[in-house]
This record gives sequence, structure tokens and C-alpha cells, in this order.
Amino acid sequence: MIVSTSRKSERLSLHGLWSSRTAFVLAATGSAVGLGNIWRFPYVAGENGGGIFVLLYVACIFLIGIPIMMTELMLGRRGRRNPLDTMRLIAVEERHSPHWVWIGRTAMLAGLLILSYYSVIAGWIMAYIFRTAGGVFHGMQDATEFEAIFSALIVDPERLIAWHSIFMVLTVAIVAHGIERGLERAVKIIMPALCFILLLLLLYAATTPGFIAGLKFMFSPDISKLNSTSVLFAMGMAFFSLSLGTGAIMMYGSYLPKGGSIGGMAVAVALADTLIALLAGVAIFSIVFANGLEPTAGPGLVFITLPVAFAKMPMGTLIGVLFFILLLFTALASAIALLEPWVAWLVENKNQGRIQAACICGLVVWILGLGTVFSFNLWADYKWTFPVDLGRVRYVLFEDKTFFNVVDFLTSNILLPLGGLLTALFTGHLMRRQSCQDELQIGSKTFNLWYFVLRNISPIAVGIVFLHAVGVFKWVGIG
Ligand code: TRP
Repeated sequence: MIVSTSRKSERLSLHGLWSSRTAFVLAATGSAVGLGNIWRFPYVAGENGGGIFVLLYVACIFLIGIPIMMTELMLGRRGRRNPLDTMRLIAVEERHSPHWVWIGRTAMLAGLLILSYYSVIAGWIMAYIFRTAGGVFHGMQDATEFEAIFSALIVDPERLIAWHSIFMVLTVAIVAHGIERGLERAVKIIMPALCFILLLLLLYAATTPGFIAGLKFMFSPDISKLNSTSVLFAMGMAFFSLSLGTGAIMMYGSYLPKGGSIGGMAVAVALADTLIALLAGVAIFSIVFANGLEPTAGPGLVFITLPVAFAKMPMGTLIGVLFFILLLFTALASAIALLEPWVAWLVENKNQGRIQAACICGLVVWILGLGTVFSFNLWADYKWTFPVDLGRVRYVLFEDKTFFNVVDFLTSNILLPLGGLLTALFTGHLMRRQSCQDELQIGSKTFNLWYFVLRNISPIAVGIVFLHAVGVFKWVGIG
């Protein structure tokens, strides 16, 4: 009775709670699984040496991803607010400077920037639902024809803007109506269906002559391809894929009912996410090799390889349409999680209604997204280079990048690791050990392991990656 009353008052005191732990795991998995797994992971792996990248990626998930996910969930559940106020509140409660609010700030900025290009890419998915359903790819043989269709789409800013707008309207509409019930129900159907279609795709890939080459590319690490940038990208990808460093996991943690261990939930989300990325990678690279495509094709990779597979397999049109629809839904589940922290912040601080708050945030993201739209057409030749000149210290932070590349680089390689580093330092070194133990509610052995990794391994690993990203090693002449 007491429990149910306190749960009830907890429910009333905030914008909602997950109905169960399973619901939370599903929603968090819905946010983690998205374009990152199926669109970004394969092309980043392709550009960064295949197997060696995959190995580093999996290592990053376990060594850095899971401990930081547990940390974010713990902070969120304790703070019970949007990430910005959560960080301020906990810092003050733990008798530290309120300036730790900057963790929340960088995280939320990263989320906004990611969503701005995520929406544009989700727009490509929508376009591909219609292209596949309309039979555009039917009977096509040659990979170059598929490439041509993709290029025709991205060179057209009007189309891209139209799809980007539709996706943002959908996201805003869902977030405006509150997310718990709708989202929970939706992911319960979407995730199993996506896995099923991914398995079908994998079965098809296994029948192609590229399957062995695909497996080799993914799972046989070639140490000679190991370089500092692949480490950097693997770590950025792990953060991106687990939705870390954007405040989203902290936000979802704030909707968790008090009590119950956080460790198992984080592991479940991370495993599901990794498995889906790996399965998608095997399927996509098999098709790449079977059709003489290049694994290093960049952001267009899945938009060329998947239609090739759908055009060739039995019932390919149906499977293709279903696949892109599911991908759209997983992208929506991620987009919602990206927008939520901002909406919660506006609602909690600026006294705004949810609908208005969602519209304002959506508009800001939409405008930022135009930069990504134009990166593929009007501004494609406009490359940004950022030289840093601090007197004796001179280096180039990034070079020859389109607006989209800059936003991607800035978020994945700078903001997300920076947020992760600060979170690990704050929690591992400044928060009281007892506060962490009370909130995490995991067994003492697991706790000790988590605490050790978070204090020692995560900050050093993320720190090195971050320093590398901002070019510090170039100053001192290594790397
Ligand atoms: N994890 C998502 C994906 O793999 C992308 C993403 C990055 C994200 N950061 C996020 C989603 C924060 C939700 C919240 O596609």
C-alpha cells in the first residue's frame, strides 16, 4: 500500500514514468537502434578498415559504453529532470560547483545537432519507401544504376527539404503528445519485426557469393589497418550507437521508477544494439562484395546496397518496403529521444506547454538540418577547413569537410566523447561512492568493477580519443 502510494505520488510529480522495466528497456533500445546501426555503422566501418574497426567498436561498447550508460541512467534516475537541471542539482547536492551543468549543456547541444542531420537521412529512408514500392528498382541489374538513383535524390534540395520537413513534423507530433504510451507500444512491435526482416536479409546475403568476403571483412581484423583514427571513430560510433552523451539516456533514466538494478538494463540495451549493428554489417558487406561495390562508399552505402539486394531476392519489393518502413520507425524512436531533453527543459523551465515546446525545438532543428540538405547539393563544393592558430601551436582541426561532415565530426568525435569524459570524471571522482552505490542498486562485485572502470579506464580511453580529436597530439608531434 505504502509502495503504491509513493509510486503514485512519484507519478504525479513528474511528466510520467515507464510502466515497467521491460518498457524502459524497449524504449531505450528503440532510441539506441536506429540509422546508426543500419546506415552509419556499415559505412563508418567500411571507411575505417572493416574488421579492426568492428573489434575496436565492440571493445568500446563493453569498456566504455556500458559503464557510461549505467552512469547516465543513474544520474537521470536520481535527478528526475531534464539533463541540464539534473546535472546542476546533483552537482550541488554532492557539494560541487553548479558549473557541472556544462555536461548537460554539451550533451543537449550534441543531441540537437545530431537530430538535425538524422532527420535529413531519415528523409532519404522515406523517399526509398516510395521508390521501392513504386518498383523503381525492379529488373535493374547493374550497381551503377542504383548509384545513379541515389545521386539523383541527394542532388535535389527541394526533395530533401520536403522529406526532412515531413520527418520533423512527425517527430514533433509524437513528442508533443507525450511519449510513454505510444512509444512503448510501438517499439514492442517494431523491434521484433525489424530483427525478423534483418534475418531474412542475412539469409539472402548468405546465398550470395559475397557472404564469405563479407564475413571476413567484418570479423577478420587486419592489424595493419589499425590507426589512431579508427580508434577515434570506433569510440565515437559506440557513443553514437548507444545514444550516449546526448542527454537522451539520462532523460529516459529520469522516467525510471525508483528501485531496481540499473546494470542489467544497460547490458540488455547495449547487447541488442550491438547485435543489430553486427547483423546489418554482415548482410550489407556481403551484398557489397557480391555486386562489386566499394565498402568505402560513404553515407550512400546502404541506399545502394539494400535496393540491389531487394531487386534480386524473391518478394524483394515487399520485403524492401517493409524494411524501409521499419527503419523509418526505428529512426522515429531515436528522433523522439533526441528531441525529448530539449522539450522537457522548455516545459520544466520556461513554463511552456508541451506542444509549443515541441514546435519550437522542431523548428530550430529543421533550420539546422538545411545545412545538411545543402551539403549534398548547393554547398557540396563548399568545404570547411578549420585551422587552429595559437601562436606557436598550429594545426588543422578538420579539413575539406562539408557542413554535414563538420556537424558529424563535431558531435561524434568531439561533443559526445567530451560529454562522456566529463560524466565519467564527475561521477567516478567527485560523487560520493555511497551515493552511486545507493542509486545503482547492483551487487557489490559488479559495483566494484563498474566503479573501477569508470574511474580509471573510461576517462583515460575517452580522454585520449578526445585529445586526439581536437588535435593535441599534433602539437606534440605524435599522431
Ligand atoms: N543511437 C541512435 C542510432 O544508432 C542515434 C542517436 C545518437 C540517438 N544519439 C542519440 C538516438 C540520442 C536517440 C538519442 O541511430
